[in-house]
Amino acid sequence: MAEQISDYQALSPLYTTEQLQSKVKELGEAISRDYAGEELLLVSILKGSFIFMADLCRAIHGVKVAIDFMAVSSYGDKTQTSGVVRIVKDLSSTVKERHVLIIEDILDSGVTLRYLLKYIGARGPLSLDVCTLLRKKDRQLAKIEARYVGFDCPDQFIVGYGLDYAEQYRNLPYIGILGK
Ligand code: IMP
Ligand code: MG
Repeated sequence: MAEQISDYQALSPLYTTEQLQSKVKELGEAISRDYAGEELLLVSILKGSFIFMADLCRAIHGVKVAIDFMAVSSYGDKTQTSGVVRIVKDLSSTVKERHVLIIEDILDSGVTLRYLLKYIGARGPLSLDVCTLLRKKDRQLAKIEARYVGFDCPDQFIVGYGLDYAEQYRNLPYIGILGK
């Protein structure tokens, strides 16, 4: 327990709970405007986006929203991508002829989203876009156009608000930089 507390103190805060809340509100308003009167399937990429998804879906109004989840794994317990994406949990709904918005926690190398865009895109959605809370802009190996981006963040290892390091820190109500 003491170890965990000292780990938490080694974080330097990057985005406060208040900053996250106002960004989610802003993104929700943009999505509500763009999909007004439409039906939209939000696909949250587990596990990292579970908190973002829960907040964001409640910030969308005037859109008929359905939700689904996919779980992918590419990191293991390391802070660098393995480059190989593995589907751990597939969609349970059909995406054919539906507007689909992928909800992601962070766009880093872009390998995960490149894979998911191809995978979901092959199933014939009416439209397919990406909403990511965070983007490490200079890091993208795969050029991914995200329609909605919360913050362009520094190229550091970031945890909290759903993001983990070795499954820890997901429950932090703010985002911090690890090891600072
Ligand atoms: P990409 O495939 O390199 O773009 O990585 C995307 C996934 O890696 C994200 O969905 C996260 O789960 C994880 N990831 C990338 N950077 C970080 C980070 O700084 N902190 C925690 N997870 C990260
Ligand atoms: Mg992760």
